[in-house]
Amino acid sequence: MNPLLSSRQMLKDAQTYRYAVPAFNIHNMETMQVVADVAKAMHSPLIIAVTPSTLDYARPKYIVAMASAAAAYTDTPVAIHLDHFEEVGKIKEAIQEGFRSCMIDASKEPFEKNIEIVKEVVAYAHRYDVTVEAELGKLVGAEDDLVVAEQEAAYTNPADAVDFVAATGIDSLAVAIGTAHGLYRGKPKLDFNRLREIRKKVDIPLVLHGASDVPDELVEKAISLGICKVNIATDLKIPFSNALKNFFAENPLASDPRKYMTPGKKAMQEIVEHKIRVCKSHNRY
Ligand code: 13P
Repeated sequence: MNPLLSSRQMLKDAQTYRYAVPAFNIHNMETMQVVADVAKAMHSPLIIAVTPSTLDYARPKYIVAMASAAAAYTDTPVAIHLDHFEEVGKIKEAIQEGFRSCMIDASKEPFEKNIEIVKEVVAYAHRYDVTVEAELGKLVGAEDDLVVAEQEAAYTNPADAVDFVAATGIDSLAVAIGTAHGLYRGKPKLDFNRLREIRKKVDIPLVLHGASDVPDELVEKAISLGICKVNIATDLKIPFSNALKNFFAENPLASDPRKYMTPGKKAMQEIVEHKIRVCKSHNRY
């Protein structure tokens, strides 16, 4: 039996009890072990997020087998999730490989086209009890480069969100309220009024992308206003790689992966623990 779950129930629970499920982007066995071990130790649900390039890098069967092992070692709910997939065909293939949760990202497309693509994924995914997240609005890479009018246009429009959810039948909605992927140039500004408005009008779980480098109190506030899933990638990659760089600086002749990976895992463990506390997802199961 596939021990991997869809993210449906864990996100519903988060919405009911007003916390967020952390979705951690992983890249290999070591990073998957860290997020799974910490989730188990802290009794937190876990979404293991995999981007298209990670799936190409590690290959689907490896990811599914490793995630199944991670789920078998832990007694809290674990889902593996396709993050920012733009190709419908790739999503279908990954579902056949065992993925139970996916994001179709057609947010670059015009509204109607976004709906059409998302509907196709929902029709397919729901046949296999796979949950679907989609995005409305655009997350910018570096919002400081945008003039205000452009920035405004990129944010999720609450009225459109209602129509989008009704037309597509998605299970969760990623909202654009001012976060961006990667590091910020200044302090990020989140549009909490917009989030409140969306939360009032839309009853499915809401997702915050680009949560790295966002001050904890802003993420906590977003969760208190209805965010049920928080996506984190960059904040894990940086300490992991810094620990390896430091290790090699001190041990230039090191060559044993078990030795040099260990400080990376340790550094990542600390930040994963911290993010779970920010999400308030610990001691839930
Ligand atoms: P960060 O790299 O900014 O944490 O964004 C992660 C993300 O949103 C993945 O979908």
